Amino acid sequence: MVWPLSQRPNRASAPEQDAQAEAAVTKKLDLATRLRRNRKADWTRRLVRENTLSADDLIWPVFLCEGENTREPVASMPDVDRLSIDEATRAAVEAVELGIPALALFPFTEPGLRNAQASEALNPKNLVCRACRAIKREVPTLGLITDVALDPYTSHGHDGIFRGERILNDETVFVLVEQALNQALAGADIIAPSDMMDGRVGAIRAGLDAENFEEVQILSYAAKYASAFYGPFRDAVGTNATLIGDKRTYQMDPANSNEALREVALDIAEGADIVMVKPGLPYLDILFRVKERFGIPTFAYQVSGEYAMIMATAERGFIDGDKAMLESLISLKRAGADAILTYFAARTAKRLKEMA
Ligand code: PBG
Repeated sequence: MVWPLSQRPNRASAPEQDAQAEAAVTKKLDLATRLRRNRKADWTRRLVRENTLSADDLIWPVFLCEGENTREPVASMPDVDRLSIDEATRAAVEAVELGIPALALFPFTEPGLRNAQASEALNPKNLVCRACRAIKREVPTLGLITDVALDPYTSHGHDGIFRGERILNDETVFVLVEQALNQALAGADIIAPSDMMDGRVGAIRAGLDAENFEEVQILSYAAKYASAFYGPFRDAVGTNATLIGDKRTYQMDPANSNEALREVALDIAEGADIVMVKPGLPYLDILFRVKERFGIPTFAYQVSGEYAMIMATAERGFIDGDKAMLESLISLKRAGADAILTYFAARTAKRLKEMA
């Protein structure tokens, strides 16, 4: 309903409005502190800025596939492709040029190579191991992070050994140690267990040390939640098709936060060099508490579903994609992340260069 013009209350003519505005200006608030002063121009905003984002903060997760000169689009992740090893090597060169310190590698294992025991995880010539060797040969200064968990290799899509209705903890840990050694032999710099089995960090540390890999770091997915935001990742590595049930008997309950501190404390005691909180934005409180409590290098993973949300919303024109990307990343820094795994890594590094 349209309010009849003549009946609008206190409707002032244009000159009257100007007079009212002028009168308001002469009435000053008695404020000693005005926080807007420090925000009045770009130069002062830069001076008082508390957190910054740079390429040094970024880790670029890369999906691998078989083939040559092959880039397979991931339907649920706009602008993200699975890369054959030669393409991944080109991405690695680009990462160095952009100042990104490290890649995290995730394989799409051919369906015929997946089985109940995840035996392909232990194959020294599996996709991840071949990629590590190829990339190290081309760009030895780039850090390589490999994921330790069985899900890309199992026929049932779980991160561990599945028997009856259960994921077996200790049996899985023995396989994970072998998987970690296989990756270290291929040249991985950081082993990143993402499986959430109990005791795996200590077992992997001991296994690495016994084989003289004491310089290989462990980045533990310490507080990893059973999250709906992993959906697009599971498309990318082909586990949406294989996964039976869900991962709630090993990944954390999104309702818990004190438990995250216990997970992190255990992983530190077992020898983790760096701990991670995952996903990112929905778990900023966890990130903050972990960093406050332990003060150790703490990474955040802005996961596939977070990436897809920003991309899809920006594609529809509802938000500015670049701004949302940078804001989400600085939020993770502000909450305590020392570095962030993000599918926006290359785009962010490019954007930051343009803005410099
Ligand atoms: C596998 C693994 C997952 C992610 C990283 N490693 C998926 C899962 O646990 O199901 C998720 C990453 C993302 O969503 O971007 N253990």
